[in-house]
Amino acid sequence: MLEKATRIAELFAQSEAYVGKSALVHGWVRTRRDSKAGISFIELNDGSCLKSLQIIAEHNHKDYQDLLADITTGSSLLVEGTVMPSPGKGQPIEIRADRIKIYGGSDPLVYPLQKKRHSLEFLRQIAHLRPRSNTIGAVTRIRNRLSYAIHQFFQERGFYYIHTPIITSSDCEGAGEVFRVTTLGPENLLSSQSDNIYENDFFNRPAFLTVSGQLQAEIYALALGKVYTFGPTFRSENSNTSRHLAEFWMVEPEMAFCDLQDDLGLAEEFVKHLVGAILADCKEDLEFFSRFVEPTLLGTLEKAVSGPFEIVSYSAAVQLLKQSGEAFTFPVEWGNDLQAEHERYLAEKLFQKPVAIVDFPRALKPFYMRVNDDGQTVAAMDILVPRVGEIIGGSQREERRDVLLEQMKLKGIAVDDYRWYIELREFGSVPHAGFGFGLERMVQFLTGLPNIREVIPFPRTPGHADF
Ligand code: 4AD
Ligand code: MG
Repeated sequence: MLEKATRIAELFAQSEAYVGKSALVHGWVRTRRDSKAGISFIELNDGSCLKSLQIIAEHNHKDYQDLLADITTGSSLLVEGTVMPSPGKGQPIEIRADRIKIYGGSDPLVYPLQKKRHSLEFLRQIAHLRPRSNTIGAVTRIRNRLSYAIHQFFQERGFYYIHTPIITSSDCEGAGEVFRVTTLGPENLLSSQSDNIYENDFFNRPAFLTVSGQLQAEIYALALGKVYTFGPTFRSENSNTSRHLAEFWMVEPEMAFCDLQDDLGLAEEFVKHLVGAILADCKEDLEFFSRFVEPTLLGTLEKAVSGPFEIVSYSAAVQLLKQSGEAFTFPVEWGNDLQAEHERYLAEKLFQKPVAIVDFPRALKPFYMRVNDDGQTVAAMDILVPRVGEIIGGSQREERRDVLLEQMKLKGIAVDDYRWYIELREFGSVPHAGFGFGLERMVQFLTGLPNIREVIPFPRTPGHADF
């Protein structure tokens, strides 16, 4: 067994209690600086917090003469010594080393991470080392706390966590942006004599990676009341943008006995709960992002939790955009989808806080959304936040069998593939609603990072599936 170490975050948090005592830490060297007075200052980071711990190593100590040359940026160490109050600014304590052990060296001439700031693009190319950078370390801690807060939120409110399938035969959003799952190679497909190419395929039918767990979540909501999914989601949309990934994580609550207004209320409470948890528990990492990435960060986050969200209908939003006097690239017309530039104008410039857009044109949205009494719009909602745009898309679901069938016909959905979905409207149908929340979009909102490729450990985008 290895010697037990104290996490550096714990030392900083309880610094007063540790002063004067012996402590053992391990981690990776960020920098080493040698003074003329025969002392080395080693910055050690173990990933538990942003700040590194300063290690004081005196050269006249018996072990250090041999070791010092190998204590280089990137090397991994065990350090045992006495915790002392630090005279240096920005650090309450440091450790005066009695014993140092090197786990693994690191050639400073080739180690890609240096003390200077690296571009985020460069860090993406070294995804195996970038978690050791301040930026990706902070993202990782925030993403972790966020995931925990998501489960807390739903568990405290009586929702059941449902594991919906990753391999599915339905295309929930009907946008055809699916990845196929097949065991057939190109040679089988080309040489197939049969009309049914799926005859020899694993599932004997077309199968895809899920684009949403919603339809399956509906099944469980119509039995257990309130449920949620939280899992990986895949979309092959060929959009090389700063807010789209081919593989991302989505949270999807689904509630029986619930309409759009209830759904919207839950979504607002959810977003506030999450932002509140990060503001409370990830202060140091947020301050880092507000200092180096997005100066308006803390202001926007505090505003998101302090007041009510703005709620506007799609029709009203179109009017506001038309009156804005902005020169948009995409034309604003009733019936057109809102583009990122429109979303950002509304959330960032006009309202400067989260905005819910409700009641979208029927033609713009998928078959499952409930048709409003006007026959033109559906009970849909998108929640937009400053800098990012849409982070939530949801709706009340069409619970009336006949209207659902009419919607499916209009959208060209094969009724036979969705028999089970229609049956849910034949056996004890109830008003129900839910939404989908993009985890990475939320991490973008919380960190101010402009590109979604920084907020997931290993981004998958068109042309990129490295690591
Ligand atoms: O608006 P979307 O497409 O909604 C659905 O999939 C519904 N079935 C959800 C539901 O009602 N249960 O996606 C939901 C959210 C978006 O608001 C966005 O935050 C995120 O998922 N999202 C993506 N995030 C990263 N990369 C992509 N390609 C994304 N596509 C959607
Ligand atoms: Mg959407």
